[in-house]
Amino acid sequence: MSKKKVLVTGGAGFIGGNFVQYMVNKYPEYDIYNLDLLTYAGDLTKHREIENKENYHFVKADIADRNTILPLFEKEQFDYVVHFAAESHVDRSITEPEIFVRTNVLGTQVLLDAAKQIGIKKFLHVSTDEVYGELDFDPTTFFTEETPLQPNSPYSASKASSDLLVRAYHETFGLPINITRCSNNYGPYHFPEKLIPLTISRVLNDQKVPVYGNGGNIRDWLHVHDHCAAIDLVLHQGEVGEIYNVGGHNERTNLEVVKTIIKALGKSEDLIEFVQDRLGHDKRYAIDPTKLEKLGWKPTYTFETGIAQTIQWYLDHKDWWERIISGEYKKYFEKQYSLSKE
Ligand code: NAD
Ligand code: TYD
Repeated sequence: MSKKKVLVTGGAGFIGGNFVQYMVNKYPEYDIYNLDLLTYAGDLTKHREIENKENYHFVKADIADRNTILPLFEKEQFDYVVHFAAESHVDRSITEPEIFVRTNVLGTQVLLDAAKQIGIKKFLHVSTDEVYGELDFDPTTFFTEETPLQPNSPYSASKASSDLLVRAYHETFGLPINITRCSNNYGPYHFPEKLIPLTISRVLNDQKVPVYGNGGNIRDWLHVHDHCAAIDLVLHQGEVGEIYNVGGHNERTNLEVVKTIIKALGKSEDLIEFVQDRLGHDKRYAIDPTKLEKLGWKPTYTFETGIAQTIQWYLDHKDWWERIISGEYKKYFEKQYSLSKE
């Protein structure tokens, strides 16, 4: 019997990268293809431990480039697609929305066409809870799969658009799909433009940490390994056509997150600097994961165990994030923030 072929898009990024490693190690009987354009967020050095394994393959390509994607699908006849590739940072979508539409909307549509053309067994689209918009601070309210889509940022609007295209290819063409909508992830290989790795890396260097507004906005944090396990479960056991929310009930204000990291690293809260709020800053996200739990998923990390593991990982992998923050990212940071002198 020939090996199953799984195409993972965006497998050089944060979550896609963790998922590729998870799949290569867990399923030696599958061939895992990592397709990635290697934008600023893509990095292959994270795959040193798996890159020589027989079941790992890398393809450098742009998901929005139809002339490359369609022939690739024809040639490889993938069984499954797990689609992570995206522009993923809300702040960048505020300053540069167009690339979000090109990659997240057009790129998804090209992949859907290719998947349809070869009769894929399943197309799993990795989405976000941000497509639902924001919740108020009432702790008894949650996003369910029935919550209407009301995206507020160009990023979440582009993700919602791609979700609707995925749904439409299922309704119109019978494409076997799932959509997963996860809350904020954190863990190894998280790019240091996002709150948690930004805080860890800056606190370790005794640099100010920019907190937007009053730091009271709430996010629902999930360790990336728990997200990977959820996607694996939905890929293999999710009912075709269904949407699954992914989250572990770990709501924290941004200020709580930043203070937890500062305390764990034994530094002073004087490093916190409140800065101008993000435009259209969503107040609160919180996931109701009941549907996924019924499928058999439960998270293995609490926020406390996950953040401790993550901080230790950043302490052990300084070479990885120091290389990133010293490159092109430095210019981005200077443009995005104007912090007081450290
Ligand atoms: P990331 O920015 O770390 O990685 C994105 C990857 O996509 C990078 O490797 C990049 O090179 C690649 N890419 C970008 N444009 C491409 C293109 N045109 N063609 C091919 N590859 C391209 O993102 P992430 O945080 O790992 O998020 C992955 C997915 O998960 C996204 O779809 C995101 O919307 C979703 N998601 C993220 C979170 C989160 O907290 N980070 C939560 C829920 C859902
Ligand atoms: P982020 O990691 O960008 O994820 P998302 O916007 O997808 O939720 O931000 C998480 C929260 O942290 C969000 O409420 C914005 C806030 N934040 C800051 O306060 N300061 C920062 O420098 C960044 C990047 C984010």
